[in-house]
Amino acid sequence: MKTVIYSNYGSPDVLEIVEMEKPLPKENETLVKVRASSVNIAEWYAMTGLPLARLGSGFFKPKDTRLGVDFAGVVEAVGKNVTDFKPGDQVFGGRGGAWAEFVTVRKAIARKPANVTFEEAAAVPTAGITALQGLRDVGKIQPGQKVLINGASGGVGSFAVQIAKAFGAEVTAVCSTRNVECARSHGADHVFDYTKEDFTRSASSMTCCSTSMEDDPGSNTSACSSRTPRLSSSADRGRL
Ligand SMILES: NC(=O)c1ccc[n+]([C@@H]2O[C@H](COP(=O)([O-])OP(=O)(O)OC[C@H]3O[C@@H](n4cnc5c(N)ncnc54)[C@H](OP(=O)(O)O)[C@@H]3O)[C@@H](O)[C@H]2O)c1
Repeated sequence: MKTVIYSNYGSPDVLEIVEMEKPLPKENETLVKVRASSVNIAEWYAMTGLPLARLGSGFFKPKDTRLGVDFAGVVEAVGKNVTDFKPGDQVFGGRGGAWAEFVTVRKAIARKPANVTFEEAAAVPTAGITALQGLRDVGKIQPGQKVLINGASGGVGSFAVQIAKAFGAEVTAVCSTRNVECARSHGADHVFDYTKEDFTRSASSMTCCSTSMEDDPGSNTSACSSRTPRLSSSADRGRL
């Protein structure tokens, strides 16, 4: 099968497409033929060899040369203990090495809704779960709560706005001019264009969720947190 690998850290030129042996599912695994995958910031950190990432992934060279996590595809085969899926099922999930024609998955797999394309489903797992965990598990979001999503138009933020709305929160989104309509279309009740307004002047009674790439100790999110009761920030746990 064809697989994307990288043998050294660097720019996208380090990526190669090579032939690897097609994996066989172990007894608790499902073999999926990948139809779509997505690109998250994690792949960029891994490929470029961000110093912090190298602690786990190899100091001089990547230990695991495969890339990609999110996938959507069709079940090709299942191990003998797998009862939830059968060949032909359309699924999506997350598994290291997903930039390949096939992945074997144990737990991080779910049925793909029929009204969602493979491309749409493959965009959900990492960013969507990051937003869900930040709001539900860390932020303990409640109906009626006022929630501010800083970085609301990004990969994580666009899920965060929709999830916060689904939990019944009143959502304020922060993004740049070009994404104001996008944030509104995701359900934001109020939108701050950070190029024109300083949300820290109005966000005094909100729980802040930062998914901004600009989130640092001197940023506007920190200013917001000093005035707000709770902050569920990406910075708390290696970013939301
Ligand atoms: N994507 C993932 O799966 C994932 C998973 C775990 C953690 N993370 C972390 O979550 C953070 C966001 O990732 P992402 O993938 O969502 O990034 P992204 O798609 O690049 O989105 C970044 C967001 O930040 C906004 N932004 C940029 N400058 C800003 C400023 N000065 N003030 C307020 N907002 C600003 C952008 O708005 P405009 O585009 O409108 O300027 C955009 O909404 C990163 O730190 C990343 O490491 C991401």
